[in-house]
Amino acid sequence: MITELEMQANKEKFIAYCHEFIGERDGLERLLKYMDDSGFYTAPSSTNFHLNVEGGLCKHSLNVFETARNIYENLLEPRRQAGDSSLNQPIPMESIAISTLFHDLCKMQMYHKTEKWKKDEAGRWVSYPGYEVKDDFPFGHGEKSCFIIERFIRLKKSELLAIRWHMCMFDVSEQGSAGRFSLRAAMDSEPLVTLVQTADLLSSNCLEVTTKL
Ligand SMILES: [Fe+2]
Ligand SMILES: [Fe+2]
Repeated sequence: MITELEMQANKEKFIAYCHEFIGERDGLERLLKYMDDSGFYTAPSSTNFHLNVEGGLCKHSLNVFETARNIYENLLEPRRQAGDSSLNQPIPMESIAISTLFHDLCKMQMYHKTEKWKKDEAGRWVSYPGYEVKDDFPFGHGEKSCFIIERFIRLKKSELLAIRWHMCMFDVSEQGSAGRFSLRAAMDSEPLVTLVQTADLLSSNCLEVTTKL
């Protein structure tokens, strides 16, 4: 569980990261206001998986940014500077911040509190508070995040591809070869795509807990 105090601290940290790393991109303040009005800071990150609690979505977004920044500053950039990597130019920290902090905006207003039912140890039905999914704009996972962000700020090509494809193979299993080909091409053309995928996966699978409801 994330306490009210932690939620407030996470919100302040999220906004501070935006101001520190994103700089003067037009529309940022309007995007932050829209996120606040849409419940971003109190939304869960999932219904049954990682950080499925109030405030989970903001916490997850912070985790993905901090993980990506860590990997970039401590592994990718030092190796690039030493001439020992396939990166031929730096990845701007602004692009890393945008494509991690906002990658899951598609989840805003998607998980709604509901009463769920399960059997207890004695086999009796008991209710418990949970979340159900209601997506009022089913546009695709990464696609929807790109669409929401683009209504406020202009995204670079690398940022669009990183956010669109952040789910990696989890998003192409039913799309056939066209989806797989596009995913591969996006990963080949922009290293930011792989960085965001890796940070998202590490955060959700190795840093974040699932609350048993
Ligand atoms: Fe996602
Ligand atoms: Fe995510």
